[in-house]
Amino acid sequence: MKIAVTGGLGFIGSHTAVELIGRGFEVIVIDNLSNASEQVLDGIEAIAGVRPIFEKIDLREKQDVVGFFKKYPDLKGVIHFAASKAVGESVQDPLLYYENNIGALVYLLQQLQQLAEANFIFSSSCTVYGQAVTMPITEAAPIQPAMSPYGNTKQVGEEIIRDVANISNINAVLLRYFNPIGAHASAEIGELPLGVPQNLVPFITQTAAGLRKEVSVYGADYPTNDGTCVRDYIHVVDVAKAHVIAMERLLNKQNVAKVETFNLGTGTGSSVLEVIHAFEKVSGKKLPYKLVERRPGDVIEAYADTRKANEILGWEAELSLEDAMRDAWNWERKIRTID
Ligand code: WQD
Repeated sequence: MKIAVTGGLGFIGSHTAVELIGRGFEVIVIDNLSNASEQVLDGIEAIAGVRPIFEKIDLREKQDVVGFFKKYPDLKGVIHFAASKAVGESVQDPLLYYENNIGALVYLLQQLQQLAEANFIFSSSCTVYGQAVTMPITEAAPIQPAMSPYGNTKQVGEEIIRDVANISNINAVLLRYFNPIGAHASAEIGELPLGVPQNLVPFITQTAAGLRKEVSVYGADYPTNDGTCVRDYIHVVDVAKAHVIAMERLLNKQNVAKVETFNLGTGTGSSVLEVIHAFEKVSGKKLPYKLVERRPGDVIEAYADTRKANEILGWEAELSLEDAMRDAWNWERKIRTID
């Protein structure tokens, strides 16, 4: 059964390709290589034992999207990861984000809505909740005005999918990720940020690897236990597995609505300092860090109520923060060839 994974060479996409192959799906990876390398295919193959089909397609090219669907008339579903995800960059270049994240989505949905049956999974984000009033955050929490063009593309993307699903054969699952981190335990695939990492965990592992001097902890005066921000860090392999389960739910027609929404988190909030200490524990290394000013736009805390995904998808995060930090560190050491 053929499933297309857009952005399939990226961080979450590559881990999802592995899990799909493990469940017997035939995976077609679509990627434009703008933020990933073809070598990721080797990593996927090393773990899964099968090399996915690879189509180098830029989803902003409408004719290429049309051509892809002509080439694979027996496609059973699409998992759509391909998108730009740097919040700061989205403020500097909003149209890049609207073109990449909305333009490409529109072209995909145009082709999907012509199919007799179309199953679609969308990468959404907890960013749609902004600073939620109540913790943990349920899927019923109000959507807040977006704090960045990036965040807006996730909100608008969700709305576009709802509008199209209403009038077509498309069935969709919107997965709202909290903070995916870690790497595959084999260290064959992992996160490969371009330039200076904006996200906490790759910054930590690069600092420990000697690429960065120290970690800046953005704000130590927040109203939390230790003064630093709290997030729900979830292992990328747990996130990947949820996609397979969601796709199987759509394929088996178990969905009870045209569009279903689930939080993907662990349900546990961890502070920045707790993440640093978890890293130190599993790596045995002391991490240089300093407390600095708050980063504009950060929410104080965000962690998921995972009951909906637990009960309806029958999925729950199985790996711990320490597992994720250990795997992220093993991956960093492998790519920097550190013993
Ligand atoms: C986590 C915590 C920082 C870096 C972002 C996007 C979100 C989603 C996931 C993805 C925060 C602190 C970070 C550093 C630090 N989208 N931090 N020093 O901001 O929760 O979410 O990524 O595609 O939409 O906004 O994740 O990893 O950047 O930050 O202290 O060098 O770590 O302030 O509290 P965030 P993050």
